[in-house]
Amino acid sequence: MQIIDGKETAKQIRSEIAAEVEQMVAAGKKRPHLAAILVGHDGGSETYVANKIKACEECGFTSTLRRFEEDITEAALLDEVRKLNEDADVDGFIVQLPLPKHISEEKVTEAIDPRKDVDGFHPQNVGRMTIGAPAFISATPQGIVDLLLRYKIETKGKNAVIIGRSNIVGRPMSILLSQKGIDCTVTICHSRTANLKEICRNADIIVAAIGKPGTVTEDMVKEGAVVIDVGTTRVTDPTAARGWRLKGDVDFQTVSPKCSYITPVPGGVGPMTIVSLMKNTLLAAKKAIYK
Ligand code: GUN
Repeated sequence: MQIIDGKETAKQIRSEIAAEVEQMVAAGKKRPHLAAILVGHDGGSETYVANKIKACEECGFTSTLRRFEEDITEAALLDEVRKLNEDADVDGFIVQLPLPKHISEEKVTEAIDPRKDVDGFHPQNVGRMTIGAPAFISATPQGIVDLLLRYKIETKGKNAVIIGRSNIVGRPMSILLSQKGIDCTVTICHSRTANLKEICRNADIIVAAIGKPGTVTEDMVKEGAVVIDVGTTRVTDPTAARGWRLKGDVDFQTVSPKCSYITPVPGGVGPMTIVSLMKNTLLAAKKAIYK
């Protein structure tokens, strides 16, 4: 059993990005610039955005954080999106989700210029990814593909089972794993799947992205499977400094001995998600996707 070290892999990729940025700067180009919009004070979102800004510094990017209170109107937020679309210095930007109930995430996502949509959430990028055309690809699925590639994990002809059908992780993951070159046979499971255990038992690769601790148990995993845990649920833990810790979707203790490879939580997929956003920002700065 080998633990997939996402933290170390992400650090390696950040240093590769930083080296490329210094070359760009030495050649007289500007530093890539990522902007982030954060609405409200959700604890998880605060942490994610702070980590994204920190990653920008480590990659040598310029970053801008635009914060707004929970009561910002949809129209005002759409206007902020428009300003970033038009800001020539900003190569890419994200609007951290979730947004308050009175704001349509769909409207906001569709208002982002696809050329600056480094989250890869705009339908134009989702569509391009689906047909295998150049696109900004959603950060978490891209990070998982990079982990599989860097650990030289065989994917061709393997049965991949994805648990979760979200627009951000499960669904794009199913498309990427079925693409030419990766060549998995993909099954996508969700909260209404009737025989999850049987389906998982046949999997060579399991990607658990449902956000429910304890979803994947030892009896669902075949010997030698690769298990990727996307879950990051905060559970109270009085022994932790902050009073909580992150828990994945996989019962790591009992599942890990059966695996050929497994990602831990934290330190597995999470750091890779952020580094994928950095990769997309670099691609945006280089105009590598939309020429
Ligand atoms: N909320 C949870 N994950 C993400 C992400 O990857 N991007 C944004 N913008 N919001 C998120």
